[in-house]
Amino acid sequence: MSLLPNRPAVRRAVTRCLVLPLALLSGIAAADGDGVWKSGENVYAKVCGHCHEGQVGPQLKGRQLPAAYISAVVRNGFRAMPAFPASFIDDHALQQVGDYIATSPAPSAKP
Ligand code: HEC
Repeated sequence: MSLLPNRPAVRRAVTRCLVLPLALLSGIAAADGDGVWKSGENVYAKVCGHCHEGQVGPQLKGRQLPAAYISAVVRNGFRAMPAFPASFIDDHALQQVGDYIATSPAPSAKP
């Protein structure tokens, strides 16, 4: 015996209700949908930029911060900066985002 009425329209509606929230949740937890960060720029845009382009954290680009320093801050946290574990940003992606920030020019001054 099925819990759902055996009507295709009802089944489709129920399936849709379950699939969308799951898809959204996995999108937040696992990088960009497939669980793999695309590039340092991708990590920066999806994670760091929320704070470091939004006046919460200090500007990072254009300061020639060493990639090793950036990695250490991300893994361990630093005062008000939260730590990000390898389960969220893997070592390879961390290396990439460090290199990306270290070599990016400062954003041009806003008018
Ligand atoms: C939730 C907001 C938030 C996110 C997300 C965030 N940071 Fe930060 N970060 C901060 C804040 C706030 C500080 C300043 C900490 C302090 O001085 O108390 C900081 C400081 C830093 C510093 C030290 C800067 C300095 O002047 O020495 C580095 C490096 C850094 N963050 C890198 C990153 C990277 C790389 C990412 C992305 C993987 C990231 N942060 C994501 C909030 C954030």
